[in-house]
Amino acid sequence: MKITDVLITEHRIFLSVFDQIEHVLPSLTTPTELRTMAAIIEGMLSGHAAAETNLAYLALDHVLAEKGQLERMHEDHHEIDVRLKKVHATNTCAEMRHLLKTAIQSSREHFSYEEKFVFPFLERKLQDETLTELGRTWLQRSPALQPVS
Ligand SMILES: [Fe+2]
Ligand SMILES: [Fe+2]
Repeated sequence: MKITDVLITEHRIFLSVFDQIEHVLPSLTTPTELRTMAAIIEGMLSGHAAAETNLAYLALDHVLAEKGQLERMHEDHHEIDVRLKKVHATNTCAEMRHLLKTAIQSSREHFSYEEKFVFPFLERKLQDETLTELGRTWLQRSPALQPVS
């Protein structure tokens, strides 16, 4: 499995988690609950974004004209992270809820952008064997994704 396919699979899982979070968001009424939710999303996205950043660096040697796509990916990661971090520094539940909703919506758009432009670009620039080896390494490091024996 190529690393890009692993990342797309993670997008699918995250999108389903986002739906669940949005469903319960109106019932979260304390800052602690909302900050916990932000921390869960941050934790979920951070390993994923780190893998994408490493992949982008690996492709940088091949990148000249199309580097704008990778820059946008990094900017999106930063923007989503800033929104989630703001939840911890905000005191009203309404504002926290708004930040969480915006971060979730930005993440959905970001996943779609990556799948349409960034991953196909990386697949063009990097060898299939490299992508498959990175996918294998990623899966080995993620105990939750190991097949059940
Ligand atoms: Fe990303
Ligand atoms: Fe992604």
